This record gives sequence, structure tokens and C-alpha cells, in this order.
Amino acid sequence: MGKPKFLVSTGAGISAESGISTFRDAGGLWEKYPVMQVCSADGFRADPELVHRFYNERRKQLQQAKPNAAHAALVELEKDYDVYVITQNVDDLHERAGSEKVLHLHGELMKMRSVKNPDYVEPLDIEHLETTPRTRGKNGDLMRPHIVFFQEPVPNMEAAAALAAEADIFVVIGTSLAVYPAASLLYYVRPGVPIYYIDPKPANVSGVPNVTVIRETASKGMEELAKLLEKKKAD
Ligand code: APR
Repeated sequence: MGKPKFLVSTGAGISAESGISTFRDAGGLWEKYPVMQVCSADGFRADPELVHRFYNERRKQLQQAKPNAAHAALVELEKDYDVYVITQNVDDLHERAGSEKVLHLHGELMKMRSVKNPDYVEPLDIEHLETTPRTRGKNGDLMRPHIVFFQEPVPNMEAAAALAAEADIFVVIGTSLAVYPAASLLYYVRPGVPIYYIDPKPANVSGVPNVTVIRETASKGMEELAKLLEKKKAD
């Protein structure tokens, strides 16, 4: 019998304590940038220079950020659980914290991909943080940020839903549950599986059965969750 399957779905809130701004909080990214200009298929077609510059800026900021206690707590849980992280975040903080299994729904800031072939992806590194519409990959293709824009499909959603359907515990951390299909992951969880939602200003989940809301920041909420799980094991 393997370890219980612990599935965690994270949003921008888990990276807030690492100094990366969220999208919809006061002062969030979408207050400063017109989202449809910098994060939509139409916006990319209209002004690719602006979109490349926007992600260059976020990639540069990411170099100053470090994983926080919440990322570390998820790694810690790998001792007792088979932990799988499904994240809407495009930062690499889960990987840098040491999480073994991470599935990105909305792409990855530290990668670029071919404009014409979405399956051709190349890593970006500290020496190559900037891309432009003229950047070419090793195979000669013109490249773009490896980000899922609004108006584009979410290729990893099917895999994420399959993982949610197998979870023995499902945890949601730091997401407004405003964006679909990511927000619908909650509904793939089998009946009776406990769900925990950690967020200081949680979205309304009163319609979802079996949810325990922990109204805390990610790091404090993970401490509280660890205690709840310990207590459950003792019962
Ligand atoms: N700890 C935990 N949660 C926090 C913290 C914190 N310190 N600070 C803020 N939050 C919560 C907010 O209360 C909110 O519920 O994080 C959530 C951030 O919500 P959004 O800004 O909407 O971010 P997210 O849900 O990840 O957005 C989803 O929208 O624009 C797209 O692709 C983008 O992946 C993103 C998606």
C-alpha cells in the first residue's frame, strides 16, 4: 500500500510571501497591466514586443524571489504522502523548494517555446533571461514565452483532472478560484475526500462539500494544516 495521494493546487497566493505579486489582490499585476494586452492570444498577435517585454520583466523579478515556508512545508509532507503539486503559477519556486512532482497549468516563466510548434520547448537560464519576437530556438523556430495566454487551451488540464480524481487529500492554496478550467479541479475530487482551502481572503466555496477553509496566509495555513493532519492520523 503506497503513501496516501496528497494533491495540492496552488495559485499566486503561495508565492506572495516570496515577494511575487498576485494578480487580483489590491496592487496586483492586473491593476498595473491590461491583462488582455499582455496575457491573451489577441494581445500577443497585436503587440508581441510588449508581451515579450512583460515576461522578460517578470522573469528578471523571479531571480530575486526565493521559495518560502509554504513551499518548504509541501516538500516536508513528501515524507508521509505521495505529494503532487498542480500549480497555476508560472514561477519555478515549487521546483526550487525541492517538490518532486509539479504540473504547471498556465506554463513556465523559465521556458520558451516555438511559435509554430507548441511541443517544442527550451529552458531559459540566468544568462538568457530575455526573449524578443526575433528570438530563435536551437531548431531555428521563432520562439515565444512558454505561457498559456487567455483564449488558449490549457493542455495539462486533462492530466490534472485525472490526478484530482485519484487524490486521497486535496488542498487548495492561495487562489481566487476565478480562472477556469483550473478552478474546476475541486469538482474532480471523489466524494468523501477531505478538501482544505488555505487563503487569507478565500473565495466562496460554500457549495463545495467537505471543504475546511483555513483563513490564513500560505505559510501559517500550512502549519495549521500539518497539525490537523497529525490529529487526524492520531484519531
Ligand atoms: N497566502 C495565501 N494566499 C494569499 C496570500 C498569502 N500570503 N496573499 C494573497 N493570497 C490569495 C488571495 O486572497 C487570492 O485568493 O491568493 C489569491 C490570489 O488570487 P489571484 O491573484 O486571482 O491569483 P490566481 O488565483 O493564482 O490567478 C489564477 O489567473 O491571471 C491568471 O494565469 C493567471 O494563473 C493565474 C490565474
